Amino acid sequence: MVEEISLSTKPERLRLIKQAGYNVFQLKIDDIYIDLLTDSGTSAMSDKQWAAMLTTKQAYAGSNSYYQLEKVVHELFGFKYFVPVHQGRAGEHLLFSSIVKPKQMVLNNSHFDTTQANVKFVGGIPRDFVIEDAYNPSKDVAFKGNMNVEKLESFVKKNRNKVTLIMMTITNNTVGGQPVSMENIRETSHIAKKYKIPFFIDACRFAENAYFIKIKEKGYKNKDITKIVKEMFSFADGCTFSGKKDALTNIGGLVATNSRMIFEKIRNMLVITEGYPTYGGLACRELASMAIGLQESTRESYLEYRHAQVKYLWKRLNQAGIPTVNPVGGHAVFIDGKKFFAHLPQAQFPSQTLVVELYIESGVRGVELGTSCFSELDKKTGKMILPKLDLLRLAIPRRVYTNNHLDYVADSLIKIYQRRKRIKGLKKVYAPPLLGHFLAKFERIS
Ligand code: F0G
Repeated sequence: MVEEISLSTKPERLRLIKQAGYNVFQLKIDDIYIDLLTDSGTSAMSDKQWAAMLTTKQAYAGSNSYYQLEKVVHELFGFKYFVPVHQGRAGEHLLFSSIVKPKQMVLNNSHFDTTQANVKFVGGIPRDFVIEDAYNPSKDVAFKGNMNVEKLESFVKKNRNKVTLIMMTITNNTVGGQPVSMENIRETSHIAKKYKIPFFIDACRFAENAYFIKIKEKGYKNKDITKIVKEMFSFADGCTFSGKKDALTNIGGLVATNSRMIFEKIRNMLVITEGYPTYGGLACRELASMAIGLQESTRESYLEYRHAQVKYLWKRLNQAGIPTVNPVGGHAVFIDGKKFFAHLPQAQFPSQTLVVELYIESGVRGVELGTSCFSELDKKTGKMILPKLDLLRLAIPRRVYTNNHLDYVADSLIKIYQRRKRIKGLKKVYAPPLLGHFLAKFERIS
């Protein structure tokens, strides 16, 4: 699908962003020139996906696209059971509400914001165990999304009765779309098995992760992507998945598992909250597009193009001296806001400030994954607990933009970088308690 885009003027953008409370989630898509807010649900679908959507039958029960998807999920991931859901977080909610009790813990390399919120929503406690290097944005480490397995095991040993679930997010979105190695998945799974704790993969960007394993990890250079994928999932008891990423669809997701007990709990809940198991809250055509998209996203030629495009933007920014997260991640280029605006204290939201400046300068929309998104209020002191990372993410939708679009993005950021010392920060004037960044309002500090 080709969509028309148009560029507004700078005075118009100044007015629009002020009206939006300096929160780009509140902008209208027609006021955006290039949208790098997310790679989720923004892929361009292929002719084969559209064709499959048109030719599948719509049915409440027993739709043919369900069986088409079941076959692909089984072949690719290898799990015995699965249910479709309308998107990743619906799957997270089904999983956590089925197995996490209040005050129990879920351990992850890094929870994404919706995952964290869904754990908390059922009364659970989310804990992150990513390797320490992940908190050093400029450091070049091959598998920077990895779990710190030593730390994980010593924590599990001491808290065995409180831990209900171990998860692994691939790629690790929160720390820069960084991959996890096969070795690390295997070691984490080994710990989970040793202590008899279920181990699930947050599989949103599994294909991008598999490609990194292929090009970076010893012994995988000559392995097919689908074989790497099968091996990654062979270590897990199940996965949650947002089809909006590596199934190249606009909506959809799934939960898959080998555990009959977990599956039955999830399926019962699915019927109450999402829909009958052969459609899971989706139109049947969406299941068909997920089935085809899963096959397309695991093709090596596609993944090679995908990686090269993200790297292209990363390289241009890097060459201009802009402090990027290194090495390049799978779905996005991340900028270290704290370093970019070294004169701004973190409590003045450096990366959110850059999101706002970028929109005003160019009409390009990025997103903050940092102080606005992940800070918490200390219940005792009422003070803001700041996250270690404060990043601006430029997520690249799949199969949508050309490298010329990305040149425009790079040129705009370079202009801002040249005048960065004159830019002032933001203060937050409103945010709801869970996932507050979506609705937060800011004011510019004068
Ligand atoms: N897990 C990860 C690692 C994610 O990145 C996301 C979504 C989800 C779970 C939830 O999936 O949106 O289908 O409900 N990430 C999007 C993003 C929103 O922009 O990174 P969902």
